[in-house]
Parts: sequence; structure tokens; C-alpha cells
Amino acid sequence: MRVIERLDLGEYATFKPNKDLPRHRWFYFKEGFARDLVLYLLKKFNTNESQWVLDPFMGVGTTPLTCREYGVNTIGVEVSPLFKMIAEAKIEDYDIEDIKKFFKYILDYKERIDLGGIHGLLKKAFPKSSLIDILRIRNAIENIPERRYRNFFYVALLSAANKSSYMIKDGSKLRMHRRKVPPFIDMFRRTVKMMIKDVEGTELKNVEYHLHQGDARKLSMIDDDSIDLIITSPPYLNKIEYTSIYEIEYLIVYGDTHVNPIRSYIGLTFSRRHILELPKMGGEDLPPAAHAYFNDMYLALQEMYRVLKGGGRAILVVGQGIFPDRVVPSDEILAKLARKIGFRKPEIWIVNRRIAVRDRTVKIGVANESILILRT
Ligand SMILES: C[S@@+](CC[C@H](N)C(=O)[O-])C[C@H]1O[C@@H](n2cnc3c(N)ncnc32)[C@H](O)[C@@H]1O
Repeated sequence: MRVIERLDLGEYATFKPNKDLPRHRWFYFKEGFARDLVLYLLKKFNTNESQWVLDPFMGVGTTPLTCREYGVNTIGVEVSPLFKMIAEAKIEDYDIEDIKKFFKYILDYKERIDLGGIHGLLKKAFPKSSLIDILRIRNAIENIPERRYRNFFYVALLSAANKSSYMIKDGSKLRMHRRKVPPFIDMFRRTVKMMIKDVEGTELKNVEYHLHQGDARKLSMIDDDSIDLIITSPPYLNKIEYTSIYEIEYLIVYGDTHVNPIRSYIGLTFSRRHILELPKMGGEDLPPAAHAYFNDMYLALQEMYRVLKGGGRAILVVGQGIFPDRVVPSDEILAKLARKIGFRKPEIWIVNRRIAVRDRTVKIGVANESILILRT
């Protein structure tokens, strides 16, 4: 197995470079990667407009949106209805006049909001006047007849709410930080104006794009041998923050957190019979959480292999798993599993090396972030 250092690509494994890019900046997603990584890979592998690029762990849609900007057909699959909705909003075509018409409708909408049955987390997260505006605007958005415009304004609502909240996403937890926050309604106006500017200023190519809510372990909506390139980033081993730090977003859009599809998240089903004998690393057994993770990833890799054409490639951004007593080398284990499935000549590009600590101070080792290149 070829392992090389590509620390020059380190920033590309993060969402940060997207924060000033039209459309990509509509929702800040810490777990996402950079548009420029997708562009780099599309160019490197000579992708053209007759081909298909898949992201089976699409998140908020960095891969499909970049494919529309570049000019290649694309499919995205994401288990969370919330993230899939955000991805859809970012990739769609809009009529500016319709956006402006609905924007006016939303700002003029009147309704008395009763905070009686509202979830305590929302009451803690926002000043009362902001929460009333958030809920009123949410109700106005629900009345918009066309899904694409509803999604557009939901994303503006979430993004603006984030900026006017006392709750901060801190690692795997939401943390209360009492401080002066801007009124939500000002942030909402500002966010919608920025999004309108982005729609006017970006040209998306006329390619096919299909975004699905689904499970990367069962890509039944995709035919065998139909995909040229996969660019993706599965959840990292032992990092499951998507389930808790987006609770406020779930509450705002859906009114509860039960729609959060926790059971389908990679690596969270411990009870299922394990299908695999995992390679022993350093003679040690892996922790149970790692078993659950690699079993799920094995299924996802099998699906990637099935849908890829001969000569196709799967590119996965992965992070090593940090446990209290060790770092589990997920990149190497995934490369071994991929070989078992039939992928040829796996390559690992190490793009970041991070010190892994426990209890904020005790050093456990170095955890790499890598790009795994697999060939069919
Ligand atoms: C690292 S993030 C991907 C971020 C994406 N590259 C971006 O830039 O937005 C991993 C995503 O996988 C999703 N996920 C977890 N389990 C899944 C499953 N079984 N099938 C499909 N998606 C899943 C999570 O909800 C999360 O959005």
C-alpha cells in the first residue's frame, strides 16, 4: 500500500475555505470539506460532462454543488433529511423575482406566537423576541407552495438563527455562551440578501443532478457500473456529533428531534451481528465502537464498488479514530477492507497530522486525516 504525505492539501479537508464562496457559504458545516478539494480531484481525474460523480455521504452537498459549477453529472445520497434539504437548496436554480416575492410575503407575515409548548432548548438558545420571530418566519415559510423556495428560506432561517443564538457548537456538544447576540430578524434580512446576490452571481451548468435521502450502505437507487468517480467523506470513527449538535436546527425545521435518523448513522448500530473479522492492529482487538464502524463502512465500500464502472475511482477523506487509550488507524483498516472487496492498489495521502489528547491535556498519540484513493 502506497502512503505519501500531502500536507499541502490539509486545508482542503476542512470546510473553512468555503466560508466566502457563493452558495457554499449558505450554511456553515464544520464536518464538510472544501469545494477546492472537489475541483482539484475533478481536474486530476479528467472528469468530463458525460460522466457521473457520486457522493454517498453528501452532507450539505459540497460535492454535488461543485459538480454543477464544474459541469459534470452528479448524484448525492445523505441519511439526514436536514442536511439533504440544505444541499438541495444550495444546488437549485431560482427565479430572482420569485425569491423577492416570497421574501416580502415572509417579512409581512403576521401571527401571534405562543411559546407555551416550545421545546426548552429553543427557549434557552435565543432571546425571547428572536425566538418569536424565528417561529413566525418558520410558519410563514411552511405556507410557500414550492419546495425549492421553502428550502431556500429554511436555509436562510437556520443560518441567521445560528448567528443570533447563545448556543455554540463546541466539538461534540452544544455549549451555552451568554453574550450579546444580534437580533435574529436583522441577520435573516442580511442572509437572504447575501443569498440573492449569490444566485445572481453564480452560473451553474446544465448537467443532471439527483439528490436522495438514503443510506450509503444500500444504494438501491443507483445502477451497477454507472459511476465514474466517487468523492466523499464518511463520518469519522468515534465522532458522532451530527446527532446532537444540530438539535436546534431539527427543532426549528421539524418541530422535534425525532426525525434525526440516529439509527442509520454509520457506526452507531452495536447490536447487529458483526459480519467481519477485522484485521488486528498491533495484535490488539479493536474497541466495540470501532467494530460497529468498520462493519458499516464495509457495507458502504461494497456498495461503492458495485456502482463504480471498471477503471473508476473512489476518493474518501477519512480521519483516524481517537479513543482514550489509543489512536485507531482507520485509513489503513479501510484500505485493507477495500482490498478484500476487490478495489486495487489503495493509496493513502496523509493531509493532516493532529495531536490527539484526552481530558484536554493527556497526549494519546498523533491522529492523521487522510485521503484514501481506491481503484476498481
Ligand atoms: C463528513 S460528513 C460529509 C460532509 C460533506 N463532504 C460536505 O462537505 O458537506 C458525513 C455525512 O455522512 C452522513 N451519514 C452518516 N451515516 C450515513 C449513512 N448511513 N448513509 C448516508 N449518509 C450518512 C452524515 O449525516 C454526514 O452528513
